[in-house]
Amino acid sequence: MKTKKVKTLFFCSECGASSPKWQGQCSHCGKWNCLTEKPLSPSFSHFKTVKQTPTMLSQQFPKSKMRVSTGIKELDRVLGGGLVPGSYILLGGAPGIGKSTLFLQMAQGLSQQKLKVFYVSAEESLEQTSLRAKRLNLKNQNNIFISNETSLEKIFHHVENIKPNILIVDSIQTVQLSDMSSAPGTISQVRECAGQFMSFAKNTNTAVFLIGHITKDGQLGGPRLLEHMVDTVLSFDGDPHYPFRLLRALKNRFGAVNEIGVFQMSAEGLQEVSNPSEFFLEERKEDLIGSVVFTAIEGSRPLLCEIQALCLRSYLSVPRRTTIGLDINRLHKIAAILDRYLKIGLSQCDMFLNLPGGLKITEPGADLAIAKALISSKKQEPVDKLSCFFGEIDLTGKIRTCTFTEDRIKEAQRLGFKDIYLPEGNKKHLTKKIISEKLNLHWLHSIKDLL
Ligand code: TYD
Ligand code: MG
Repeated sequence: MKTKKVKTLFFCSECGASSPKWQGQCSHCGKWNCLTEKPLSPSFSHFKTVKQTPTMLSQQFPKSKMRVSTGIKELDRVLGGGLVPGSYILLGGAPGIGKSTLFLQMAQGLSQQKLKVFYVSAEESLEQTSLRAKRLNLKNQNNIFISNETSLEKIFHHVENIKPNILIVDSIQTVQLSDMSSAPGTISQVRECAGQFMSFAKNTNTAVFLIGHITKDGQLGGPRLLEHMVDTVLSFDGDPHYPFRLLRALKNRFGAVNEIGVFQMSAEGLQEVSNPSEFFLEERKEDLIGSVVFTAIEGSRPLLCEIQALCLRSYLSVPRRTTIGLDINRLHKIAAILDRYLKIGLSQCDMFLNLPGGLKITEPGADLAIAKALISSKKQEPVDKLSCFFGEIDLTGKIRTCTFTEDRIKEAQRLGFKDIYLPEGNKKHLTKKIISEKLNLHWLHSIKDLL
């Protein structure tokens, strides 16, 4: 009897590229002696794929999935209103920023709803994880299972026994498939392991969370394919010198992207900051020179923060310009516009801009607040502590409209601000209802109106 020949391909152990023939050098990544022959069908597939016949789109629609709260409201918001069973989520962030802490706290939140959580702590020992759990004062640990297994086969073996509702893998770069020759963390390993977790999530309707390392330049480590595979990509960042941390969704198949969650790292783990504006304006209690409040939008959420400027005569032939938390080019642009249209003589000044609290703002709407802070510092005139600003300034000195006008105004109103300076073009976006009589709106057409 004829036996069926198994089709094979040659796979690169470095980049995972395949080739039909053996070659000394991988044509994709250029590495030498890294091609090995492997059967075409995946060598390890733990879960039988369910055969499905195509259905009509209309038939699939009513089956909307229930969402489960993770017990952390800020995380729920970023996920698009809670966790969808069977979803596949990747969290990236710099070392030490608090990824493991966040997921351990989430594990507690989920376990309190009688959900079984399996936390694979492949990076840390069991003692380290349980010490952290003690430090976080986790209650109801009965539904949380931990293991420091790094082998994918063994992880799935445990999964079969535990049958968790949620699987957390900390981190995908430390998990490995033993019948692949490459080291854990290499592209081919990460790709293969991530693929296995994906089919596990989809076939068993278990939510799978992966923690991923980021590279030096802030990109998620591993293949780009990883980001395509998962349903949601979350990024956790913040300045390690400050307690404040931001969680963002960079991709989300179940909700809006750019939604943010705000946390504060404390001795008892991550605390949710449900009122970020109050958090950032905590220390601003009087009229100050060079300090202006900006009504920012992070995701779809208004956030009031302080922008500080310092201008002083320079003793250098090329004056110094420095920013912290803001783009330096924005400072160059605004300084040039102020010099041209308001003639306030900034060209011979050293200029410093700062966003206190470790916040980073990239939004163009910050222009007006930066301009006001620079003018205030140059002229040594304090800015009223109950006024705030937003609007983009273009190169002709006009103030351009911004999005989310109403949300910004409402937040400023909620925090007791009395005067808001904003683009004239936003007038038409406003409904009468939201404005209280106590609020003065100053509609600006051009930068000259600021004086
Ligand atoms: P961790 O979650 O281990 O970060 P990651 O997994 O992203 O590498 O968090 C590490 C940092 O958080 C560590 O520097 C100490 C700090 N931390 C606290 O300040 N308070 C706490 O309760 C915990 C658990 C950690
Ligand atoms: Mg960690």
